[in-house]
Amino acid sequence: MRVDVISIFPEYFAPLDVSLIGKARERGILDVRLHQLRDHAHDVHRTVDDTPYGGGPGMVMKPEPWGEALDEVLAADPTAPPRMIVPTPSGVPFTQKLAMEYAAEPWLLFTPARYEGIDSRVMAEYGARMRVDEVSIGDYVLAGGEVAVLVMIEAIGRLLPGVLGNVHSAVDDSFAPGAMENLLEGPVYTKPPEWRGHEVPEILLSGHHGRIARWRRDQALRRTARNRPELLAALAPQSLDKHDRQL
Ligand code: ADE
Repeated sequence: MRVDVISIFPEYFAPLDVSLIGKARERGILDVRLHQLRDHAHDVHRTVDDTPYGGGPGMVMKPEPWGEALDEVLAADPTAPPRMIVPTPSGVPFTQKLAMEYAAEPWLLFTPARYEGIDSRVMAEYGARMRVDEVSIGDYVLAGGEVAVLVMIEAIGRLLPGVLGNVHSAVDDSFAPGAMENLLEGPVYTKPPEWRGHEVPEILLSGHHGRIARWRRDQALRRTARNRPELLAALAPQSLDKHDRQL
């Protein structure tokens, strides 16, 4: 997968050299290309922002540098444009479902903004040529979209074939599709069986696969009820079995 990122802080993306994503890049599974937006601002100060029309606080990112930077990236393949993702707290929620959708794309283009965001005409212009999604990683406001892009690249990158060592790891995730869809993953344990007086639940040592699966589902349901009651309330009744309903 190719991923382009245009930002005034390309150095924010240093963590992409590390760990799982760093390895995926070394192995050629993920091809990340960083671009400096200011290279496309041509005044002496390399200005990328200006005051908002209509007044109000803060600054808005000017359309011209974005247009020039985007045209340059898009020129790499004029026949098949990337999916453009604009991080903004006003966007649609980034979910595991969206991460999976993006993981199936051959080419993504992220445009993290600083200040109050990008002049809306940029999204109108490119939205007429390709898919442009405005996406939020949560109901809080970051100082800029760079960290949101890191979050999305990590969530998408680990879903690419060959990135996770164990192919089953992504299958058991909270939010992953399947029987446990929309349930939070329950607690996990490893050796030793006893640590500072805390014991690993005996059932997990029993080797009884059916009973362990049942126990894990109970734990997932309880944790979801406690931490995310709205997820439990939204579950389709037919996705709950008789035992679930007794909990
Ligand atoms: N930029 C600032 N806050 C953001 C958020 N919550 N999600 C995506 N991009 C952002």
